Amino acid sequence: MKSLLITIDGPAGAGKTTVSRNLANRLGYRYLDTGALYRAVAFKVIENKVSSDHDLEELCRKLTINFVQRDGVFRLFCNGEDVTDKIRTEKISMMASKISAKPVVRKALLSLQREIGEKKNVVAEGRDMGTVVFPDADIKFFLDASVETRALRRFNELELRSSQTLSQVEIQIRKRDKNDSSRDVAPLKAAHDAITINSTTLSAEQVVEKMLQYIF
Ligand code: DC
Repeated sequence: MKSLLITIDGPAGAGKTTVSRNLANRLGYRYLDTGALYRAVAFKVIENKVSSDHDLEELCRKLTINFVQRDGVFRLFCNGEDVTDKIRTEKISMMASKISAKPVVRKALLSLQREIGEKKNVVAEGRDMGTVVFPDADIKFFLDASVETRALRRFNELELRSSQTLSQVEIQIRKRDKNDSSRDVAPLKAAHDAITINSTTLSAEQVVEKMLQYIF
């Protein structure tokens, strides 16, 4: 099979992470989680109590961020610190959504994403993969689902770690949808040449099977 760069964009909770990881495994491809990059910056913003645009610019200028392979899995390092397990909280989700609207942040993360994607054999997941970062990707998917379904999925993921109710999770998802799709730079939207899949009534496995039909 030809080496491909496949992009998967979509809103929070649409199942992008599970689907992208499974699709990458099925194809023997590398999985690129670009949300993790924005989350890493958000983590540093909170850690360093960054509150002004000036300080955010300073943080971005000094930012070093890279994936390091350990025992077959990629760990994410930000300014020398392994942040892989520290970036999955709702506080970080909301901050990542907020700071991802800043052009200085998007610019700081662009070259790393392109460096990885341009090697091909990659499934890249995010919000602007097919529109901005990889407009020439070989196959573009846009994965969507109803907001209620997405909130329920996120709630089930969080259940063990969080005291949030389902309706609180739904409010946050709606807020992130609004932030992510209404910002001026690289808003969440389907590329004009993307294949849209609605996963509301599909399992992750069914979505992957559907995608494979488009790939082969
Ligand atoms: O996919 P995620 O939930 O890990 O992403 C966290 C936030 O990062 C998301 O709300 C918006 C931002 N993001 C982005 O702006 N562009 C991307 N390519 C990936 C994520």
